Order: sequence, then C-alpha cells, then structure tokens
Amino acid sequence: MPIGQDLRVPPRRHSLARRAAVRACETLALALGGRAFYRARHLTPPGLRLRRERVLHPHLPDVLRGFRVVQLSDLHAGPFVRAGDLRAAVDLANSLEPDLVAITGDLITHRAEDAELVRADLARLRARAGVLCVFGNHDYRGRREGEIAERWAQDGLRFLRNEGVRIERGETALCVVGVEDLEEARTIDLERARSCVRPGDFELALCHNPRGALAFVRERCLAVLCGHTHGTQLDLPWLRHAGPPHPGLRVQSGPTAIVTSRGLGSIGLPVRIGAPTELVVIELERGAA
Ligand SMILES: [Fe+2]
Ligand SMILES: [Fe+2]
Repeated sequence: MPIGQDLRVPPRRHSLARRAAVRACETLALALGGRAFYRARHLTPPGLRLRRERVLHPHLPDVLRGFRVVQLSDLHAGPFVRAGDLRAAVDLANSLEPDLVAITGDLITHRAEDAELVRADLARLRARAGVLCVFGNHDYRGRREGEIAERWAQDGLRFLRNEGVRIERGETALCVVGVEDLEEARTIDLERARSCVRPGDFELALCHNPRGALAFVRERCLAVLCGHTHGTQLDLPWLRHAGPPHPGLRVQSGPTAIVTSRGLGSIGLPVRIGAPTELVVIELERGAA
C-alpha cells in the first residue's frame, strides 16, 4: 500500500438492537460483580500475561540493541475497567524498565469522561523515552478526543495524531510514528506523521487498526504496533468473527513485524476466552528478520 493512499476504512456501525443487547449484557454483568471478576481474573497475573516479541533488523546499530518497548492496548475504561483496575498492569510494565511505553488506542468504551478513570494509573508509567499513545475508534465518542489528549498530556502521556517523535541515540534515531484511527478520524495523514523521519533513521509505527499496518512496511520500519481486535476476545468458533478481523498476533511482512496486541479491556461481557489480556514487550535486536 503506497504512502499517501487514503488509509480510511468504513466504520463498523452496529444496529440499535445489537447496541441495546451489548448495553443490557454490560448492565447485567455489572450487577453480578463483573468488574471485580474482570479485575481478579484478567487484570491481575497470572490471568494478565506478558508476551515477549523480539524484533530483528540486520543493520540495527549497537545503540538501539536491547531497546525495549512495552505496549498496552485497548484499555476500554468504562463498565469493567475503572480507577485502580490497571494498577497491576502498570506495575508489571514499570518492572520491565522500558525505554518506551506505547498505548495503542481504545482508551474508553462509551464515554470520553471515562478516560479520566484510568489516567491516574497510567500516569505512573515510567519509561526513559516517555509514553506515546494513539487513539482507537472508540476514543472519538462525542468528538472529545482533543480533551482527552489535553488532559493526559498533563501527566506526560503524549498522543501522536498524525505525527512522529524522533528518539535520538548517538548518530541514529528511532522515529515513533503514530496515526489517527482508520475508522473514525477525520484525517489520516501518514506522510505528515513520517515528516520527522530522516535518512538512516529506523521507524516504529503505532496504528490502532491492523488493517492499516501494511502502509508502514518499508526497509527501516522495524515494527507496527496495533490493537483493536482483542485477539477475538471470545475465541469460540461461533463467536470468533463477531468482532473485527484478527490478523494473528505477529505477522512478518518483509522487514517489518506487525504486532497485534490482545489488549487489556473488554466489550460487552467481562469475559475473555482463549484470548488472554496481555502486555507486549518488544525488544529490538540485530539479526535477520
Ligand atoms: Fe478495542
Ligand atoms: Fe478498536
């Protein structure tokens, strides 16, 4: 997919009946203690998993070897994920002493104000090069994503909205490039996002929806970090395809690894089957991809 091509995909719009059914499931599950169940079962180890991915490039310089990114995705603050519920995930992320933390969208499920529920937990994230985020399709509810970005910036959580950040390491740099969501954003501008990239730089891309990942593939793009699919959330034959298509946890496309996180939150029910919640740790190394 060439640079400059419109990356937008049609937004999924569910029927009123389906949305009402999801709300009814959430309400019932909450009344039955669904939030406490989800926190104990899925947001605390051993239910909360750590997935390690080594990303290789044959010409990676010494200064970038061992560079460690911890990815959090699909927090879905709202019915089942509220204040304090991400404490164990944040503690686990910090224990890995990352160079960078990447949050790949879907901070909320229904309401922009719910982003405040998890801000205090996420403000405790520590990484040498900071915490960088992109929005997911849920985050544009009420078109209040700008408010979320402003508030979270107060805690050092920076959103990449068709922009990039250059992390310099000696003579080289790792450019982290982030785009708006493919379904809900008004503008997706990959060329603008990549404008910080200089010849010889390596790239790491953040793109909530894996359907856009191929647009980032190029010789020095090491990885594209995605979320959105929840790893199907309910990995059962008759439910697997109810959500967005899941490309697999890791797909190698030429020199670039496409890593899709199963995420942390849930939609509809505080349940995951065959799709555990996870933090993904991406470590850069020199070697054949
Ligand atoms: Fe999601
Ligand atoms: Fe999503």
